[in-house]
Amino acid sequence: MSEPLILVEVLAQPAKVALIRFNRPKVLNALNDQLAKELEAALTTLDSDPNVHVIVVTGNEKAFAAGADIAAMADWSYATVFNQNYISKHWEAAKSVRKPLIAAVSGYALGGGCEFAMMCDIIIAADTAKFGQPEITIGTIPGMGGTQRLPRAVGKAKAMEWCLTGRMVTAQEAEAAGLVARVVPAEKLMDEVLATAGKIAAQSLPAVMKVKETINAAFETTLDQGLKFERREFHSTFALSDQKEGMRAFIEKRKPEFKNQ
Ligand code: CAA
Repeated sequence: MSEPLILVEVLAQPAKVALIRFNRPKVLNALNDQLAKELEAALTTLDSDPNVHVIVVTGNEKAFAAGADIAAMADWSYATVFNQNYISKHWEAAKSVRKPLIAAVSGYALGGGCEFAMMCDIIIAADTAKFGQPEITIGTIPGMGGTQRLPRAVGKAKAMEWCLTGRMVTAQEAEAAGLVARVVPAEKLMDEVLATAGKIAAQSLPAVMKVKETINAAFETTLDQGLKFERREFHSTFALSDQKEGMRAFIEKRKPEFKNQ
């Protein structure tokens, strides 16, 4: 049997956190169709697993992922990619995951690697991380959301400069631009990411999923529609026993025990 292209684990600690690791180290975790299919299957399974509240995706020290697999794509024709709906099929499973996805990025996050990280809800980067959309340097353009998510994250000027030159951006620059939530020393990356994941995983799952859904709505609606959606979702939390437990625990000066309902 061939090696799995991703490794999936539901961690014992922190509780309710799953870890997906890209597993093509020889090609800097270049993303191909098989990997995308495995990732889609894992994300679908973990999203419906009640023992999982948060999913962390990572690579290795040298690369989160250096982009879509150039060797696989090089000779494809227009008809092949169009007819097979390349990228739209399998690669965008992260878009429909309702639980928080955290990208733990060390080393290269280029092209599709940077774009996959941007599909996640939070990017935490090692101080060695390098981001970029180098597609222009190989005669193509970002095709996994880079031209759309990057300007939303860092603004038009920076997105244009990064995508038109294809230059690599350091973790520090990515953080200053708003792409990355936090930069941490490389040797502490997984500790920091898992601490963050554990903190989120300990909250009420429906409240967590509502935060994700309402923040994502900010990118799809007018301010007025978004505020209305947020207010309705806020009101809906009063139907949860976790809201009663959370507020009661605060008043009684104790830790809440959420039942995720
Ligand atoms: N696809 C396929 N193979 C890749 C790859 C990719 N995206 N990135 C690296 N590799 C392979 C290399 O071919 C090399 O394989 P061999 O050992 O068999 O030669 C191996 O990984 C190690 O890479 P390098 O020897 O190049 O390592 P380096 O340290 O010298 O350079 C790098 C690292 C700067 C990241 C360089 O590998 C690189 O530029 N990679 C390509 C980055 C890129 O252009 N990504 C965009 C891809 S297109 C895309 O993603 C489209 C989209 O939007 C969906």
